[in-house]
Amino acid sequence: MLPRRIRSLLFAPAVRPDLLRKMPATGADAMVIDLEDATPPDAKEAGRTELRSAVADLHGQIPIFARINDASTPWHHDDLDSLPDGLDAIVVPKLETIGGLDALQRGLEARGLDVPIVGGIETGLGVADARMLLAHPAVAAGYFGAEDFVADMGGVRTSSNHEVAFARAQVALAARLAEIPIMDMITADFTDDERCRRECEQARQIGYGGKLCIHPAQVAIANDAFTPSSEEVERAHRLLTAYEDGKARGVASIAFDGHMVDEPVAAQARRVIALAEG
Ligand code: COA
Ligand code: MG
Repeated sequence: MLPRRIRSLLFAPAVRPDLLRKMPATGADAMVIDLEDATPPDAKEAGRTELRSAVADLHGQIPIFARINDASTPWHHDDLDSLPDGLDAIVVPKLETIGGLDALQRGLEARGLDVPIVGGIETGLGVADARMLLAHPAVAAGYFGAEDFVADMGGVRTSSNHEVAFARAQVALAARLAEIPIMDMITADFTDDERCRRECEQARQIGYGGKLCIHPAQVAIANDAFTPSSEEVERAHRLLTAYEDGKARGVASIAFDGHMVDEPVAAQARRVIALAEG
C-alpha cells in the first residue's frame, strides 16, 4: 500500500546493499530499490537477488518500492518475475501508452502481484499523453523525470530548469486531474542543498507533493519543504478567521495584511492547514 503521503522518495541502486540497509534511518517517506538506470545491464540479475534480500531484511521498517525496467527493455519480464511479496509499490519508468499499462496490469495480475504502480512520466510521448496515462486505474501515483525527458527531447539540462518548465507543470496538471499524488524530478547535484530546496519550493507551488531523492541529505530538505511551516499555518488560521468574520458580516472579499482575500485565497489557506495536519 502507498504511504499516506510521500514528501521524499529515496532511491538507491539494487546493487548497493550497503546503501539499501541505511535507507530506513534516513527519514524518507518511502524507499525505492532501483533495477533501472542505477543498475548496469550486466548486473540486473545480481540486482534482483539483492532486491529480494533487502525486502526480506527491511520489511516493516519503511515503505519499500521497486523500480523495474520498462517493457521496451530485455529485462522487463525477468524483473517482474523476480519481484518478492512485501513490496508497497512498483515504480514503472517511462510510461508512454495505455496499451503498455494494460499489458503491465495483466502481467502483475498473472503473477499474483496486487501492488499499486508509481508511474514515471519522463519522455516526450509520456508528457504529451500524461493526462491519459496518470488517469489509468492501475496508476496510484506518479513522478516527473527531468533527466530522461531532456535526453529524449534532445535538449540541454540546466540549473534554471526552464527547459522542463512546461513538462513539469503539465505532469502536475495531469496528476491533479487524475487525483493522484505526484513527485518531482531528482536534483542530480546532491551537494547543492540550495538548489534542492529551491526546486522543492517551486514544485510545491505548482502542485507537487514530494520529490525523488538520491541522497540522504535531500530527504530532510524535501520533508521540510513539502510540509507547511508553522508561520504559514499560523497565517492560514488567522486569514480564515478574518475571512469567516467577513462572510458573517455579508462580505466575501476582505482586506488581510494588505492583501485581498476571497474564496480561492481561503481555499489555499485551507489546503495549507490540511497539508500540515497530514
Ligand atoms: N541511500 C541511502 N544512503 C545513502 C545514499 C542513498 N541513496 N546515498 C548515500 N548514502 C549514504 C552513504 O553511504 C554515506 O553513508 P555513511 O555516512 O554511513 O558513510 C552517506 O549517505 C553520505 O554519502 P556520500 O558520501 O555523500 O555519498 P556517496 O559518494 O557515498 O554516494 C551517490 C553518492 C550519488 C553514488 C549515492 O548517493 C547514490 O548511489 N544515490 C542513488 C543513485 C540512484 O539510485 N539513482 C537512480 C535514481 S535516479
Ligand atoms: Mg531515468
